[in-house]
Amino acid sequence: MTATVIDGKAFAANVRAHVATHVDTLRDEHGITPGLAVVLVGEDPASQVYVRSKGKMTVEVGMASFEHKLDADVSEADLLSLIDRLNNDPTVHGILVQLPLPGHLDSDLVINAINPAKDVDGFHISNVGLLATGQKSMVPCTPLGCLMMLRDYHGSLSGMDAVIIGRSNIVGKPMAQLLLGDSCTVTIAHSRTKDLPGVVRRADIVVAAVGRPQMVPGDWIKPGATVIDVGINRIDKPGGGTRLVGDVDYDSCAQVAGAITPVPGGVGPMTIACLLANTVTACCRAHGLPEPEGLTA
Ligand code: GUN
Repeated sequence: MTATVIDGKAFAANVRAHVATHVDTLRDEHGITPGLAVVLVGEDPASQVYVRSKGKMTVEVGMASFEHKLDADVSEADLLSLIDRLNNDPTVHGILVQLPLPGHLDSDLVINAINPAKDVDGFHISNVGLLATGQKSMVPCTPLGCLMMLRDYHGSLSGMDAVIIGRSNIVGKPMAQLLLGDSCTVTIAHSRTKDLPGVVRRADIVVAAVGRPQMVPGDWIKPGATVIDVGINRIDKPGGGTRLVGDVDYDSCAQVAGAITPVPGGVGPMTIACLLANTVTACCRAHGLPEPEGLTA
């Protein structure tokens, strides 16, 4: 079998177009422009690339983008004071603090200082609790993007066996909550899981989010399963240079799976698209307007 390739790049372009339509309506019918504030502390090159890309796409869909770049040695008090200002700024509907933060800053404290209604990353403890109890929340962008692609491909996910490899707060745990919400039987596997290949072989849906290049080989995949690869790892090419690979070994998995997301061009583009979707959702909720359909869990 050769897997169907789930085109995250095209899917993300559709989500952004849907977001842009809602932004137009908010502006034309209500005089509101959704605004997203991104806070970057320090000069981590990968974070700088992400933040630039987020700003560009925010503007492309017609929203306002506010970038706040702080020195790597900023005090926690100054960062918290900026967050307080953004919490109270009515032109800002979404706030994202780029992670990781430098070591002297307490990430949990900083994230939990964001107004949960503006927490478009869905990392605030209130949003984590709301998601875990099936209540309306802001949903973390990467798992939301994975869920959208899975729903689009399968229709109903009810009764499917889902195995998530990785237990991070950003992907693994919220992904499990979302799949449980769609009535999957969910297993979260991790570095201490006994017989990981055997566990993964049971899955109708495999979500790989461990950050280890090409860790999942094709012979772990049940024939016909859907493989969602969240990993983005840069590895050396044999002849020199580097390339991006996921957490699954694409070539061998694509021989066995029913469907698979490529790297790059799978989950990655969906993350920023879902950030924009969350910002529109937050804006509609802030103004008591109906939320866009299909952009939330
Ligand atoms: N760093 C890597 N991924 C993310 C993300 O989804 N949100 C934030 N805030 N920082 C990140």
